[in-house]
Amino acid sequence: MDMSQPIGVTPLDTQTGGPVGRPIDRVDGPLKVTGRATYAYESREMKNPGYGFVVAATVAKGRIRDIDTASAERMPGVVHVLTHRNVPPQGEKKEQVGPLLTGTEIRHAGQPVALVVAESFEEARAAAAAIRVTYDQDKGAYVLADALAEAKKPEKARTPPDSSLGDFEAGFAAAAVTIDARYTTPVQSHAMMEPHATIAAWEGDRVTLITANQMPNRGQDALASVFKLPKDNVRLISRFVGGGFGGKLQPQADAILAALASKNLNGRPVKVALTRQQVFTSTTRRSDTVQRVRLGADRDGKLTAIGHESWSDTTPGDSFFETSANVTRSLYAAPNRLTAHRLASLNLLPASSMRAPGEAVGMLALEGAMDELAEALNLDPIELRIRNEPAEDPEKKVPFSTRQLVPCLREGARLFGWDKRNPKPGSVRDGQWMVGHGVASAARLNPLQPAKARVRLDPDGTLTARMAMTDIGTGTYTILSQIAAEMLGLEVAQVRMVLGDTADPMSSGSGGSFGAASSGSALYMACEALRGQLLAKTDLNPQNAVFTGGRITSGNGSAALRDVIGSGLEAEGEIKPGENEKKFSQYSYGAHFAEVGVDADTGEIRLRRMLGVFTGGRILNPKTARSQAIGGMVFGVGTALMEAVEVDPRFGTFVNHDLAEYHVPVHADLPEIDAVFLPELDDKTNPLKSKGLGELGICGAGAAVANAVYNATGIRIRDYPLTLDKIL
Ligand code: MOS
Repeated sequence: MDMSQPIGVTPLDTQTGGPVGRPIDRVDGPLKVTGRATYAYESREMKNPGYGFVVAATVAKGRIRDIDTASAERMPGVVHVLTHRNVPPQGEKKEQVGPLLTGTEIRHAGQPVALVVAESFEEARAAAAAIRVTYDQDKGAYVLADALAEAKKPEKARTPPDSSLGDFEAGFAAAAVTIDARYTTPVQSHAMMEPHATIAAWEGDRVTLITANQMPNRGQDALASVFKLPKDNVRLISRFVGGGFGGKLQPQADAILAALASKNLNGRPVKVALTRQQVFTSTTRRSDTVQRVRLGADRDGKLTAIGHESWSDTTPGDSFFETSANVTRSLYAAPNRLTAHRLASLNLLPASSMRAPGEAVGMLALEGAMDELAEALNLDPIELRIRNEPAEDPEKKVPFSTRQLVPCLREGARLFGWDKRNPKPGSVRDGQWMVGHGVASAARLNPLQPAKARVRLDPDGTLTARMAMTDIGTGTYTILSQIAAEMLGLEVAQVRMVLGDTADPMSSGSGGSFGAASSGSALYMACEALRGQLLAKTDLNPQNAVFTGGRITSGNGSAALRDVIGSGLEAEGEIKPGENEKKFSQYSYGAHFAEVGVDADTGEIRLRRMLGVFTGGRILNPKTARSQAIGGMVFGVGTALMEAVEVDPRFGTFVNHDLAEYHVPVHADLPEIDAVFLPELDDKTNPLKSKGLGELGICGAGAAVANAVYNATGIRIRDYPLTLDKIL
């Protein structure tokens, strides 16, 4: 289906009472809690694997002078040591997936320099520790703030790095009230629960990787380039993935090195898991940013100029940049506009997508600056946002598919009790706690990706659906089961989803908040085709046919599905993004409300309660949707208050690189948090009329917390995270 036209009434609209929209439990829950969900490293599908352990560079810039592997090779159980000296020939870097061990040059600390393979994990780890690498060390650049002047306009950008409309500088200079604020955000790490892991094996000129990956089809493509193979000779299998947050969008060192070592070992399977520390130092990260937001408004709070510039950094030769200012192009009305992104080259780990790349950190700055502007105008921050609500996308000049930012702000204000907030900073006390309330908008773009699906209906009335989609913990197995069951009038238990294998029809994978919409729409189309086949075998009127309770019912009669299936039926479906991506501005929206307490003596900041009100088109499963939203909000709380990779400015190494020292919120940090969805159907997005939710919850969440800290204390902290030393 080409998504060019608005979608009319669909089976999901008419078959009310079916599984879609119901808060059913995760269909893979029992497998997960009983340990029967097999993650990559646990797979026993490949026999007699060697165990690999990665050796990573300890310097950030320079060259390997010598790598002494002799004693490691003599250690018990060691079967292979892979270095740049014996690595098989590799092809081109693609989609940020590079060949590894290609030479002696070191571009960042943590860059893999060797892989040891042994008969056991312990033997591999011990031998890895015995490898002696010496370096010729060069002076590197590690600090973004020192590199702003040399930062360049990014090349090979998927979206234009810059935009402008009207005359920003003139509009800003003429504005009655202005804010000119510099915000910074630190390096962050995905820190998902399951570290990257792969088991790889060759058979002739074909390689199979059982791996923890979010987007197996893109991984297949990229690895085909690295291994110089036709795409079909590379197979990725990712049945269960223990979180990703963008860190598993690309195959990492575990996958590439396991496959290269297996090749050198004539196809013997090699399994590699990165250590927790290597997840931080040897995969990818979210770049730190420096952001300048300039807002100009008239006395009534109408924005006349809006400017957002962002600087981020990555490894020399890489091109990924943090699109912090993209969301500013569509969020608020203003006649004079400017956005710009600049990229600095630093000897740090490659930067890549991390949950809501762009919005997650861009809204920390924009929504903070909006709070500053409200204060300067002596205007309620919700009212300021309402006064700048655009009638159409202010830069693309196209209609919004749906946009309920204002209803989210209003309903959130009502549920949260915003009217009881004291707008005067530092004026509310609860014992030792200075109490404050903050608000921020949420917005995340809604993309659609090409995807296919194949379904088979067996004579016993069970449906099996296959596609190379993944469930990274988000609930994909569940919502896809619901869609298929609803489309064919089956019970969810009669549906079997087979996901994660590139041998099955290609899918979007999980990323960019496009997974559910893309894979779900492909499945919807496959089920539509199957409905057509079933109806064609009856004399029922296909108009208004309803599939429910194992029966097809139409105006002129009814038939049991089982009597129609025969020996089984198969169908395929496909979705492609169409003109609606350009004809409409597509975002999911929301509003965050936070209450914090700040200890008057110590500056300790505690979240007291938080509420998010969101719209994301049709909510396929309120339970998994709420989990996604709350997970995103928790991520935002961490961003606001604790998450930061500390880069040693002398050596370019990461000082903290595990979950003991890279702080993310734990249960004790999180009091009452709730997420609410307002009803919405978006008939411009996809046949499900849904929009992406996975990343919406983080967007703006941290800003609401920071704005609450300001309201509590009167102290505006623009350097995230807001640790207590910055309060005192
Ligand atoms: Mo997401 S950062 O595209 O997994």
